[in-house]
Amino acid sequence: MPEPEPSEEVIRFENVDKAFGSNVIYEGLNLSVKKGEVLTILGGSGTGKSVMLKMMLGLMTWDAGRVIVLGTDITGLDDAQMLPVRRRVGMVFQNAALFDSLTVFENLAYPLVERGVRDEAEIKKRVTESLAMVDLPGTEDMLPADLSGGMRKRVGLARAVTQSPEILLFDEPTTGLDPINVRRIDEMILSLRQRFGLTSIVVTHDLPSTYLLSDRVAMLAQHRIVEISALAAFRKSQVPEVRAFLDAMEQREAP
Ligand SMILES: Nc1ncnc2c1ncn2[C@@H]1O[C@H](COP(=O)(O)OP(=O)(O)OP(=O)(O)O)[C@@H](O)[C@H]1O
Ligand SMILES: [Mg+2]
Repeated sequence: MPEPEPSEEVIRFENVDKAFGSNVIYEGLNLSVKKGEVLTILGGSGTGKSVMLKMMLGLMTWDAGRVIVLGTDITGLDDAQMLPVRRRVGMVFQNAALFDSLTVFENLAYPLVERGVRDEAEIKKRVTESLAMVDLPGTEDMLPADLSGGMRKRVGLARAVTQSPEILLFDEPTTGLDPINVRRIDEMILSLRQRFGLTSIVVTHDLPSTYLLSDRVAMLAQHRIVEISALAAFRKSQVPEVRAFLDAMEQREAP
C-alpha cells in the first residue's frame, strides 16, 4: 500500500484486530480519514463503532495492527505519551459524559484547566463563546441534572469545541433528540468544518443526518469496513450490507 500524503491523512487504521475474549470485534480493520472531511460511520448495534472511536483516542487497546493519529503511531502508548495527541482530538461521548456535581461552566472549564490554561479571563471567554455556539448562552451556573437531554448533548459538544480540537469524534450525537435539536447539532458540525476546517467522524443511526453531513460514509459489518465511499456513491452502493441497512432505515423513516 503506498504511503499517502501525511498532510492529507489525519487518522489511519492498519490491519487492526480487536477482540474481547471470544467476542471478535475487528479483524483486519483498515481506515484512512482525510483532513477536513466529515466521515460518517454506520453499523448495527454492537458492531464496534464506539470501540473504534475509543481506539482513536487510545482509551482502548487493540490486539494487532497500528493506529496512526495526526502522524503519531499511538499503538502501545501510555496515558502520558497519549496526552499531546488527545489534546488535538475531541470526543463527544454517546451519553454526553458530563460531571453531575459540576456546573456547566465548570464542566467546560475543567478540561482547559487540566491542559494548563490558567488565565481566568481566557477560560471565561472560551466557555462563553462555546456556549453561544451551541445556542445555550447564560447556562453557565446550571447543573447537568437541570438540563434536558438535548441541552446536555449540546453542552457535551461545547465542551469538546472549547478545546479547539483538530479532529472531533461524535458518538451518536443526535440519538434521542427531537428534530429541532438534531438539526441544530448537524448544523454545528457543518459550521465547525466550514469555520475551522475541522475533521469530524460521526457515528450515527440517523439517515437524514448522514445524508446532510457526510463527505464520505463507511459501513461496518463482518468485523471490518465493508464499504467506504463518497456520499453519492454510498447511496448507490450494491454492497449487500449497505443496501439492507439503507433500505431498512428508509422504510422506518418513510411516513
Ligand atoms: N470494555 C469492554 N469489555 C468487553 N466488551 C466490550 C467492552 N466495550 C465494548 N465491548 C463489546 O464490544 C462490542 C462492540 O461494542 P460497541 O460499544 O463499540 O458497539 P456499538 O457499535 O457502538 O453499538 P451501539 O450502536 O449500540 O452503541 C459489543 O459486543 C460490546 O459488548
Ligand atoms: Mg456505541
